[in-house]
Amino acid sequence: MLEATSTQNLVSFQIPIVDIRTPSCLEETIRKKVVSGLARPYNKKSIPDLLLYNETGLRLFEDLTYQPDYYLTGLEIEILSKHSLKIADSIPVGSLIMELGAGALRKTALILDALEAQKKEVAYLALDLDRPELVRTLGQLNGKYTHVKLGGLWGTYDDGRRWLSENTSDSPRTILWLGSSIGNVKRDDAGDFIRSFGDVLSSKDRFVVAIDSRYHEVDTICRAYNDREGFAERFCLNGIDSFNQLFGRAIIDISCAKYRTVYNEVKGRHEVYYRCTHDFEIRLPGDYPPTFLYEGELILLAHSYKYAAVERESLWLRAGARPEKEWMTDGSYTVTMLSWP
Ligand SMILES: C[S@@+](CC[C@H](N)C(=O)[O-])C[C@H]1O[C@@H](n2cnc3c(N)ncnc32)[C@H](O)[C@@H]1O
Repeated sequence: MLEATSTQNLVSFQIPIVDIRTPSCLEETIRKKVVSGLARPYNKKSIPDLLLYNETGLRLFEDLTYQPDYYLTGLEIEILSKHSLKIADSIPVGSLIMELGAGALRKTALILDALEAQKKEVAYLALDLDRPELVRTLGQLNGKYTHVKLGGLWGTYDDGRRWLSENTSDSPRTILWLGSSIGNVKRDDAGDFIRSFGDVLSSKDRFVVAIDSRYHEVDTICRAYNDREGFAERFCLNGIDSFNQLFGRAIIDISCAKYRTVYNEVKGRHEVYYRCTHDFEIRLPGDYPPTFLYEGELILLAHSYKYAAVERESLWLRAGARPEKEWMTDGSYTVTMLSWP
């Protein structure tokens, strides 16, 4: 169970949420990424996808996950519904479970339900970027479990990793990273990202990662990020509001950008852009030079990498991890449990 003093509070109150953000807070990190992304040349500019995950964005993303077009959630639910007891079997009594980028917790609840059914005393910590959303989503599970203790960690993946390294105990730990969020990390960096968690885990700990595959029709992939009801578009365009909020003033008008998506088959990644509707200039507060944007110019907002089986093998190699168990739907979506020697 949770032993460190700082974590005992997590289990004794009604779903407490601990602020684990580093002092040089997230906003500053995002601002720096904005500045460097906008300094790039024509058609190579980018805006960090971290801007998408404010309270409004997380709610829009949750709405998107209910759309049949967003097949990823459906496939993951299929796997977790079918195998939740087996996944729970692999999580020992007394475990600490930390979920990276927990989001709405609809799918997580399938695993927590299975742990509860097995009467396993475990602690579950949802880690995410927006505190009000952690309160809301964890609140929906309030009172549901007797054996599963709930808590929240407000911070980034990096904060979560640091928290794990600072809060060691004898409890086995399981890290969950669901929703194919790994797709938002560049393919070349994804193995190192997983390895960085392996570095703070022990041989009895596990890392569970859900990954979407390349094995879908291109139309199916494109439809997921451009659903018929327009949730994906609203989710991404909310990034402009979030951008303006970050800098405390209306810097980009929503009419300046159109939503543009494409599946890059060579890279095996879906790409989301803002396409500039006309020439305009961005002036950030501070001593930054202005950025000129031109009609038709694309600004990369997010990518979602898809993995072939062989690419997943390379990922494990790069992460220095061993795939212990794997659950899948006809190979098109996988949930893999990793360990480190
Ligand atoms: C693609 S959504 C997946 C949400 C949820 N896990 C699911 O499966 O539906 C990505 C989630 O990761 C969170 N996230 C993105 N980048 C993050 C970071 N650097 N640190 C912590 N959370 C992050 C977002 O806020 C969001 O909840």
